[in-house]
Amino acid sequence: MPWYSRIAGWGMAVPRRVLTSRELAQQLRTTEEWILTRTGIRERRIAEPGETMSDLSVAAAREAMARAGILPQDLDLIIVATSTPDYVIPPVSSIIQHKLNARCGAFTLGAGCTGFMYGMAVAHAFIAAGLMRNILVIGAEIISRNIDWTDRNTAVLFGDGAGAMVLQASELPTGLLSFVLGSDGSGAEHLIVPGISTNAVITEETIRRKGHLLRMNGREVFKFATRVLGKVAIEAIARSGLAPDEIDLMIPHQANERIIEAACRELGFPMEKVFLNLDRYGNTSAASIPIAFAEAMEQGRIREGDNLLLIGFGAGLTWAGAVVRYGVRPEDRPIAVENWPVRLPVSLPDLNRLEPVRQAKVMALRARRQLLQTAMSLLLPFYARTRRRR
Ligand code: COA
Repeated sequence: MPWYSRIAGWGMAVPRRVLTSRELAQQLRTTEEWILTRTGIRERRIAEPGETMSDLSVAAAREAMARAGILPQDLDLIIVATSTPDYVIPPVSSIIQHKLNARCGAFTLGAGCTGFMYGMAVAHAFIAAGLMRNILVIGAEIISRNIDWTDRNTAVLFGDGAGAMVLQASELPTGLLSFVLGSDGSGAEHLIVPGISTNAVITEETIRRKGHLLRMNGREVFKFATRVLGKVAIEAIARSGLAPDEIDLMIPHQANERIIEAACRELGFPMEKVFLNLDRYGNTSAASIPIAFAEAMEQGRIREGDNLLLIGFGAGLTWAGAVVRYGVRPEDRPIAVENWPVRLPVSLPDLNRLEPVRQAKVMALRARRQLLQTAMSLLLPFYARTRRRR
């Protein structure tokens, strides 16, 4: 019986149109130098009129499925993370499922820029429970249509794109080894499209006041992001049972190079082990992590058996972290069902790699679980009989 969710395929798609920071500087009160030094972004992709978020998603998904060697009919579920779907109703996940000619269930998930990480965690839960085999997770945005192109605070940061992964059931210890999910709605107003809401109808006044466009408190988001990135990294690594130096590559949400550098400095995590591609795409929100993963694969930055640390943060406010193993290490063996941890999402610690005290604790936990299971199997028939008699 499979319980791990291995990364079987990955793909990405971005619009062809490149918008450089130099071009932006010609239309905004900013300079190319300012954008580069304050954010690290040189250029981003912008969807052309008529190009849809579902089209980008389908292109990325096809690439991921081809790499995984599966057909659309092999999919058990499609999860689409986005804040910028084709329509508010219907869910874009169904449009994508139809365009892919898949026959499975599909749903759209919203957790801001953290959405893809939430999608991975949900997919992992289905697979770890033994309920599904192949799940397609997509993170995609056409955020450029919600940007106020006269607001230099936001216009320089974002870009469009899509990334996808196929997570597949595996008996070997691979894929998600741990995850952490977080949310704090008290910071909701720091990153918000205030006018597209069920609290009020959209009027001409809404449009005039640019209520349909993204508003951001950059300073607050910056502070939140640097704080949460380090915290999530520590928590995700601790839950994985690995040591920090066993992380081969960090793939953070590609929001701003300065956020990532500040958090890594604080953590003592070397920047050589951090994958960055925001100079070419900017912040693509829910698409940023799967796009970065796809490019890291393409550039040979990820090898078989590598432990990756993925970290997302964004609107909500939300955050998530995961330690993910790509492929397997030579010493990895299938794990027997009774060795699974009692509480998910804490991943199975490899006993041989733990200190003696933790080894003893894990063994005690397993013994207790075994005892409970035996007691339950003995008591249940007795309980059922007495209930029937009553
Ligand atoms: N060009 C020139 N000046 C700009 C500018 C731009 N593109 N954008 C903002 N400024 C100005 C501000 O208006 C401000 O001017 P003021 O002091 O006269 O009001 C000044 O720069 C400094 O603002 P500050 O917020 O301190 O700048 P910063 O160095 O922190 O950089 C951001 C601004 C937006 C780049 C930064 O706050 C940021 O990256 N925040 C996080 C955004 C993010 O990641 N959002 C998505 C999360 S998923």
